[in-house]
Amino acid sequence: MNSFTPISEEHLNFFNTILDNRCSVDSEEIYNYSHDETEDISVLPNVVLKPNSVEEVSEIMAFCNENNICVTPSGARTGLSGGAIPIHGGVALSLEKFNKILEIDENNLQVTTEPGVITQVLQDAVKEKGLFYPPDPASKGSCFIGGNVSENSGGPKAVKYGVTSDYVLNLEIVLPNGEIIWTGANVLKNATGYNLTQLLVGSEGTLGIITKIVLRLIPHPTSDLLMLVPFFDAQKACEAVTAIFKKGITPSGLEFMEREALLWTQDFLQDTSIEVAENHAAHLLIEVDGFEQEILMEECTKIMEVLESFETGEILFAESQAQKDALWKLRRSVGEAVKANSIYKEEDTVVPRFQLPQLLHHVKRIGDEFGFKSVCYGHAGDGNLHINIIKGDLSEEKWNNELSIAIRELFEEVAKLGGTISGEHGIGLVQKQYMDVVFTETSLNLMRSIKQVFDPKGILNPGKIF
Ligand code: LAC
Ligand code: ZN
Repeated sequence: MNSFTPISEEHLNFFNTILDNRCSVDSEEIYNYSHDETEDISVLPNVVLKPNSVEEVSEIMAFCNENNICVTPSGARTGLSGGAIPIHGGVALSLEKFNKILEIDENNLQVTTEPGVITQVLQDAVKEKGLFYPPDPASKGSCFIGGNVSENSGGPKAVKYGVTSDYVLNLEIVLPNGEIIWTGANVLKNATGYNLTQLLVGSEGTLGIITKIVLRLIPHPTSDLLMLVPFFDAQKACEAVTAIFKKGITPSGLEFMEREALLWTQDFLQDTSIEVAENHAAHLLIEVDGFEQEILMEECTKIMEVLESFETGEILFAESQAQKDALWKLRRSVGEAVKANSIYKEEDTVVPRFQLPQLLHHVKRIGDEFGFKSVCYGHAGDGNLHINIIKGDLSEEKWNNELSIAIRELFEEVAKLGGTISGEHGIGLVQKQYMDVVFTETSLNLMRSIKQVFDPKGILNPGKIF
């Protein structure tokens, strides 16, 4: 267990001197930085710091390292594994002032950005130049690109275009001791030593503070088509996913929603435009995109041929941009809708795509055995299933003390299927107790050793991942 130096008046004076009014101990502010979107966990930091230059971050880190003060980096706090929760108090280091897109390089198809830019803002800015930054977590309208890099975020487009790590070329980071480095180079190929850039991606704020990000971009597709397909059997919906890929099609979105995921979200958004019939057990939301409408039409025809053998209800084709937006809004709001509906725990399992029906089977089997209800949805094309375990009528004892046994059993099934316990939400605080399901002690020790090299005193985002 780490023991950190409590923040004193003297420390606060130092922070105030370098940050002026961007240092706060105001109780409301402190509360805002005590939680992210993970369940209902909240631990207060002692002080919130909002540096606006890499030099300030460097000075803060050097000081905290010297004085053994723990620091938890903070982005937009939309995370779902508790990575931004300052569980040891200390400093919450917000990157929100790092909110500038520094350069869109149209010659090289790259963008250099600060980490506190909202992902959607970045996407819109490059889109104006005909360019595309595809990773699009559900929270893209509020999350920061720096948080996406830290968690290696995915989103619906990942199935065709890959996740955040597939776009990160280079990072400027401040090490826990205050030193500033670039991790790589702004190039598309790099066989120069260990890949520090990719080590930082997904490191959940435990190795360094990201202060600049260089991303590669691609030309923005000009057309897309979207359809919503009801299935009478949820497992069949999962089976259809593999069949679509086997037909040679890579959709730009292939999302799964169980019946209740859709119903609860319609309720949450007060949007009942989709008729969910009694026998609709699950839906697939399927998007194809590209540059030629005709080719997309052909792909949709092929997808419909595939679906013929899977007992579906009437397929809805989005006819306007407004309808596409509404369908995506429904899908993107499932997480929020579940949160609004019940106390829940979210698991972010991922298996090889063909195993998805098996995964769903085990979720329901374990749920029946243990007595929990689950609402599942997610990125079926990636084999990435978000499993929301609903508290419902479970006793406090079962919820707080016994549920972890069922989750462990579920994760063991996931591992047997060749999968792992987080596809895109990270390990953070809430999944770390299960890391041994998918890693041996040798592997975990390697990771701990890497942490030790970057952060010998363990002051940066302590208590996360392992
Ligand atoms: C989603 C988030 C929760 O897919 O990852 O909606
Ligand atoms: Zn997701």
